[in-house]
Amino acid sequence: MKILVTGGLGFIGSHTVVELQQEGFDVVIIDNLSKSTIDVLDKIASISNRKPDYHHIDLRDKIAVKTFFSSNAIDGVIHFAASKAVGESVQMPLEYYENNISSLVYVLQEMSANNVSNFIFSSSCTVYGQADELPITENAPIKPAESPYGNTKQIGEEIIKDGTKISDLKAIALRYFNPIGAHESAKIGELPIGVPQNLIPFVTQTAAGIREVLSIFGNDYPTPDGTAVRDYIHVVDLAKAHIVALKRLLTKQNKASFEVFNLGTGKGNSVLEVIQTFEKVSGKNLNYKFVDRRAGDITSAYADTTIANKELGWKAELSLEDALLSAWKWQLTLK
Ligand code: UFG
Repeated sequence: MKILVTGGLGFIGSHTVVELQQEGFDVVIIDNLSKSTIDVLDKIASISNRKPDYHHIDLRDKIAVKTFFSSNAIDGVIHFAASKAVGESVQMPLEYYENNISSLVYVLQEMSANNVSNFIFSSSCTVYGQADELPITENAPIKPAESPYGNTKQIGEEIIKDGTKISDLKAIALRYFNPIGAHESAKIGELPIGVPQNLIPFVTQTAAGIREVLSIFGNDYPTPDGTAVRDYIHVVDLAKAHIVALKRLLTKQNKASFEVFNLGTGKGNSVLEVIQTFEKVSGKNLNYKFVDRRAGDITSAYADTTIANKELGWKAELSLEDALLSAWKWQLTLK
């Protein structure tokens, strides 16, 4: 079975490629290297002992996508390739719509033209906004998106759903909570470009002395310690869920042509809890200060994973400690 992984040299993509290879799948990667580097390919190979096939293609290039599909026999697609920075998307909305939406449409069109019907989509818990009820189930209402990035995930799900109505396309959208951590080998991980926007890379860079102080955005939230709560899921657990979802489609166990699953641990942790846990596993004291809330942030989000547990037979196995220690070990390789 040959699986196309778009964005396969990125953070979640690279970990998923490794898991796919370890499950015996042949992998072909498409990546435009906009947020990754080509050496990730060798790192993947050094973990799995198999170098995946790689094509340097920008998925906005419709002709290149067409040529790829007409010359490669593919059994399924896991589509990661997309821009993902919330703040940047507010500054560059049209680039976000062009990159995230046109590439999705071109991939789906070529899948249809070449009778490839199995599709896994990277979605996000951002589609729920600040949910009225916690934990968040898949049936929670979709709130108006807070950012163009979030909107591309909502629109992306709608496009895919419409596609399944008029073709043989079968799709699963996986709504990630907060993916963190790195592979236990410390050979692949998250590569933030410039100043990290997300909490964990900022924490590890601060501990490594690259950043002077971590700003905690808000300590007046209505949470037990006043800092915001998220569901932090280890990227390796997340990667494994993609394999399970893919196999569900390949073995025709899906119950609808478009399905959605939450991928989280089911547990919420505050920013302060994350910092304390990081200090414990790394043995480093973190320099931090409280500042105002960050615009657009929600108070609390964590997953109800009942449906993913029951339908996919998957649950997160690794702990926050595991994830933070792996992120720290990865950071130490970057210094
Ligand atoms: N935070 C800080 N200081 C920082 C960075 C983050 O205090 O320097 C806080 C945030 O305010 C938030 C928490 O840490 O409370 C997590 O922030 P992240 O930026 O790591 O993650 P978000 O929950 O904001 O965003 C993530 C993904 C998005 C996705 C969103 C959906 O990065 O792609 O979840 O809720 F859209």
